[in-house]
Amino acid sequence: MLKLKNIYKTFHVGTINERRALDDINLVLNDGDFVTVIGGNGAGKSTLQNVISGTINPDFGTVEINGVDITKLPEHKRAKYIGRVFQDPMLGTASDMWIEENLALAFKRGEKRSAFKWMINSDNTKFFKSQLAKLGLGLDERLKTKVKLLSGGQRQALTLLMSTLKKPDLLMLDEHTAALDPKTASLVLGLTKEIVENSNITTLMITHNMRDALAYGNRLIMMDQGRIIFDVAGEEKQKLTVDDLLKKFNQTKDAPSDAMLLG
Ligand SMILES: Nc1ncnc2c1ncn2[C@@H]1O[C@H](COP(=O)(O)OP(=O)(O)O)[C@@H](O)[C@H]1O
Ligand SMILES: [Mg+2]
Repeated sequence: MLKLKNIYKTFHVGTINERRALDDINLVLNDGDFVTVIGGNGAGKSTLQNVISGTINPDFGTVEINGVDITKLPEHKRAKYIGRVFQDPMLGTASDMWIEENLALAFKRGEKRSAFKWMINSDNTKFFKSQLAKLGLGLDERLKTKVKLLSGGQRQALTLLMSTLKKPDLLMLDEHTAALDPKTASLVLGLTKEIVENSNITTLMITHNMRDALAYGNRLIMMDQGRIIFDVAGEEKQKLTVDDLLKKFNQTKDAPSDAMLLG
């Protein structure tokens, strides 16, 4: 379970660029919640994830995972709880390493990684292969291929697999399909759904696409100017339409264009 209490974050304090990115965020995610997060540019979505991962320290407030206060824990020590996938396919994997080496590294997430090569043995290879096969991209036959030779979509699928190979307490996705062509994006989203639902992983997925925000997950939150202005789950979420979301958006100060939101 993730619990955020009274989180505030302001950048460039005392300058003309001062910007309150998070403004009293209170959020509890229950185990297995699959939450989609929407909001205009600059609403604070990425900052929210950065505070949870420890990339950024909040000015005030606490972050708890499974009842443990991790607010002061450095980012690398949170890695064992948290899996993350970003928009840029180049970020999540090590280009010059084989697919198998990347998986071996991922398998040691949150531990000393120096001895990761020892993770490459016949038992693990079998396991890595079986996990790769589930992606349906033929990567299970390419264990010794360097990751830099893969396409963006293949890399995002691999990053997704790596961040969930050891079940994280929380998976955070930050527009992880936004840089992919529509067909590949929907493939990676399909894989996301499969992995998240099969392993019942608590997930926070930022998307700029309202249809995706409605189609995936059991809960949806909308952010505006550093605040959570809408939080809806279960049946109530299922009944929501793009039109409903647009109406909500139009009530916000940062109302983005419809075209952007529909992707
Ligand atoms: N590292 C940073 N340094 C300074 N300002 C930042 C930083 N990260 C985010 N911001 C600012 O905080 C606000 C929220 O940004 P962000 O969380 O990236 O929004 P979103 O992901 O919803 O588009 C924006 O005004 C942005 O410019
Ligand atoms: Mg962002």
